[in-house]
Amino acid sequence: VVYENSVTASKAVAKEIADLIKVKQSQKQPCILGLATGSSPKGLYAELVHLHKEEGLSFKNVVTFNLDEYYPMEPDSVNSYVRFMKELLFDQVDILPENTHIPDGTLTKAEIAQYCSQYEAKIEVLGGIDLQILGIGGNGHIGFNESGSLQNSKTRLVALDHTTRVAASKDFLGLNNTPRTAITLGVKKIMEAKRVILMAWGESKSNIIKKSVEGAVVSQVPASYLQEHNNATFILDKEAASKL
Ligand code: GLP
Repeated sequence: VVYENSVTASKAVAKEIADLIKVKQSQKQPCILGLATGSSPKGLYAELVHLHKEEGLSFKNVVTFNLDEYYPMEPDSVNSYVRFMKELLFDQVDILPENTHIPDGTLTKAEIAQYCSQYEAKIEVLGGIDLQILGIGGNGHIGFNESGSLQNSKTRLVALDHTTRVAASKDFLGLNNTPRTAITLGVKKIMEAKRVILMAWGESKSNIIKKSVEGAVVSQVPASYLQEHNNATFILDKEAASKL
C-alpha cells in the first residue's frame, strides 16, 4: 500500500494497531505485538503515544517482543534498543514493564542459546505474535536476519553485515565502535506472526523494496520471504515505492 508520505502511512498503521488492541481488550485477551527499531517506526510510535495521551488508548493488555538488540549492549547505553523503546514508546504509555521484552545484550556468550529458545517459548505460550512491525535494511534484512538467513532460522546471535554496520556507524560515532554482532528474532517466528506490516520510507529503500516485492524469494533478501506470508503488507511512501 502506497501513501503520499510517511506521516499519513504511520497514522494508518497506528490506527490498525489501536483497533487490534481494542478488539483484544473487548475479548479480554492480551494483544501480542512484535516491535521494530530503526528510524522507520518512529512516526508510528509517536502516533501511538498521541492516541494514548489524547484519546485514552490503553496498553494495559499489550505484550511486546522486540525483534533485536545489539550484542554486547548495556540497556542504558545511548544506542541500546531498550533505551530507544523506552524513550519513544514504553515510558510514554501505560504498558506494564513486565509485558515488554527485548533481547538481552548483557548475557554471556554461553547463556545466549538457552535465552533465545526461552524468548521464543514466551511468544509461543501467549499464542504467537498477533501483529509484527518490521523495517527493512538496505540489504533486505528484517530484524537482524541478514542476507543468507534461512526461512526456518531461529532466534540467535548473528554477525552483522558490513553494510549494516556502516549504516549504524553514524549512531555509534564510527565503525570501530559499532557492534559486530546482535541477537535477533529468527525468520521463522516473524513468518509465524498472524499479521506482518513492513514499513519503508524514502528513495534509498526503493531498490530493495523492488527486490523484496517483485524479485525471487531468496535468502539473499530475507524480506522477500514475506511474499509467502498470507497476511503481510508493505506500507510505503511514494519514494520507497517509486521503482515498483
Ligand atoms: C536496523 C534494525 C532493523 C531495521 C533497520 C532499518 O538494522 N535492526 O530492524 O529495519 O535497521 O533501519 P531504518 O528504519 O532506520 O532504515
